[in-house]
Amino acid sequence: MSATIIRSLAQLRALTKSWKQQGDVIGVVPTMGALHEGHLSLVRAAKAGCDRVIVTLFVNPRQFNSPEDFANYPRTELADAALLGPLDVDALFVPDAAEVYPEGHDTVVSVRGISEPLEGAHRPGHFDGVATVVTLLFNMTQADRAFFGEKDWQQLQVVRQLAKDMLLPIEIVPCPSIRAEDGLALSSRNQRLSGAARERAAALPDILFAAAKAIAKGQPVEETLAAGKRRLRAQGFAPVEYFELCDSETLGPARPDRPRRLLAAAFLDEVRLIDNVAVD
Ligand code: PAF
Repeated sequence: MSATIIRSLAQLRALTKSWKQQGDVIGVVPTMGALHEGHLSLVRAAKAGCDRVIVTLFVNPRQFNSPEDFANYPRTELADAALLGPLDVDALFVPDAAEVYPEGHDTVVSVRGISEPLEGAHRPGHFDGVATVVTLLFNMTQADRAFFGEKDWQQLQVVRQLAKDMLLPIEIVPCPSIRAEDGLALSSRNQRLSGAARERAAALPDILFAAAKAIAKGQPVEETLAAGKRRLRAQGFAPVEYFELCDSETLGPARPDRPRRLLAAAFLDEVRLIDNVAVD
């Protein structure tokens, strides 16, 4: 059986009200659909840690940098509902844009600092769109816990900062990236890779892991990063937008006495791929 789809906020509120009255802990897994095993792993984590689980499916127009990217984003609602069926979620919330952004909606949530480097520098306004919709989805679902994948590492840190700064009564639960057998992190965008590009795409995690290992062993950082970029270009990635070592939490400059993360974004055959690994 497919998951039960709820489209109206009034219907969702009636459900969450009754769950709250029973003292149920509500978990939310925010998604933009085109679900894959990565999303399902978030749902399984939510099921294990909550009494009720809501998956949200909303392709958020405010976080895309171009109308074409928004229009081309895969929309596979029926397949998504079918995939969720066996996981027995309590609701699949699929609001219309008018439910999320009713006429006259005029508020933008902006997390400064941490939103600015990396993705923020290459996708201006992206994290304002994410922070705004995530705030709305948290309020709509009244969730106690929200599950986010480490694949979008910067997004996870932005959402953590948002919840902390705004005293949102929700726990942000990070979940590990899920990778295909060849190491490529699962992403809805992988569907857009041609067969040949898909075969080459695993070079991204290979190069990231190799560079992280070299840095952890004490190899010079700048040289290792430059070599990583060169190796990506040699594998056909262009442009390589960033290949950077950052502080894991603040995404500011890395320090050897604090947890570090290596993050990359690069295009392969016009598909933008991102990934990140710990350096320890
Ligand atoms: O990671 C995503 O799919 C989106 O950025 C999110 C968190 C669902 C907000 O639209």
